[in-house]
Amino acid sequence: MPSQALFVRTVEHYLAPIKAFLDDSGVTEVMINRFDEIYIEKDGKIVKTDARFTDPQAYEAAINNILQFTGRSLSDDQPLIDSRLPDGSRVHVAKAPCARNGTSVAIRKFSQMVLDIDWLIELGTLTTQARDFLRLAVNAEQNMLVAGGTSSGKTSLLNALSSFIPDDQRIVVIEDSAELQLQKNHLISLEAQQPDRYGRGEVTIRELFKSSLRLRPDRIIIGEVRGGEALDMIQAMTSGHGGSMGTLHANSPADTLNRLETMALMSEIELPLFALRSQIASAVDMVVHMSRHIGGRRLVTQISEVNPVDDAGNYTLRDLFVLKPVDKDNPDHQMQLAWTGERSALGNRADRLASQHQDLLTDPIKPILGMD
Ligand SMILES: Nc1ncnc2c1ncn2[C@@H]1O[C@H](COP(=O)(O)OP(=O)(O)OP(=O)(O)O)[C@@H](O)[C@H]1O
Ligand SMILES: [Mg+2]
Repeated sequence: MPSQALFVRTVEHYLAPIKAFLDDSGVTEVMINRFDEIYIEKDGKIVKTDARFTDPQAYEAAINNILQFTGRSLSDDQPLIDSRLPDGSRVHVAKAPCARNGTSVAIRKFSQMVLDIDWLIELGTLTTQARDFLRLAVNAEQNMLVAGGTSSGKTSLLNALSSFIPDDQRIVVIEDSAELQLQKNHLISLEAQQPDRYGRGEVTIRELFKSSLRLRPDRIIIGEVRGGEALDMIQAMTSGHGGSMGTLHANSPADTLNRLETMALMSEIELPLFALRSQIASAVDMVVHMSRHIGGRRLVTQISEVNPVDDAGNYTLRDLFVLKPVDKDNPDHQMQLAWTGERSALGNRADRLASQHQDLLTDPIKPILGMD
């Protein structure tokens, strides 16, 4: 199959007549009935546009271009075909005889979809092996941070991972502005408040955090850690709220721990650096790092476990998964998350995991736990 980079370039070329709609975040759907009849859904309303492909041939070439990246083509004898654009938007093509007025295309823009974990796998964001491992880690109450750059897909992944939390556990979600859409019943969602124009009524993340502890959660989820609440989170993680999670802006798993440290130092509580570092290293079990790639793809680039600090007081990490080219002779080809061969610390609890989570111990992750 052609490479992702080529896909991005050719789609831009063939879909030029509708590119403005694809780039407009207010547009949620693009519907093409004919080469010269294009509707969009914008802000909830469906409107006919003036956009058009030059002629039926250009329209057909555009569809074929999209389809070839899923190994299909308009000449397939199947009349209904699902495909997607490089940015993950879903494309549905219906052609004759089912579509009685000629080939019709509907593009559901990506941002409107709930990203469940299996859809993230389909997008290449992670692999089934990594999913199985993270599902076990969530169930084994590992404290986890999803880190990465701006718009790298952290919040979406956290949302998807939260579905692994057992239904009988009570979750408190703390956010600056409500964004997560956890599909859970036993859930309390707290949102920070800006002060009004007289400076009254402000509720900070730290205040929410203190309140959350009185709400007796099993787990705490922080939408984004960005200030002094980092220290509250670290302390909660080490005191009975195992399995807590959050996102954080950072450049690498190691950078994640340094940033957490810097943020914890922003709280007014004084703690010797060595003590803080060892607390961070024992609080955070795992960092899942993400980044944004060409064509708008978001990939998990690393899953690393945090070791205890070394004698000099430095953080050390153990990379369990890293990004590798699927085909190493072709650097332009897609990258995929792969197990490094390092054993997970969860392997130390293998017997307990086997008795409590037998169903989650799938064959692909047994070697990661040192079980064969
Ligand atoms: N796995 C993915 N593949 C492709 N696109 C994705 C993926 N995850 C998220 N996106 C898209 O990327 C955009 C940013 O996603 P998200 O908000 O999850 O990222 P973020 O890292 O939390 O961003 P921020 O830095 O703003 O907090 C959204 O438009 C989302 O639909
Ligand atoms: Mg986010």
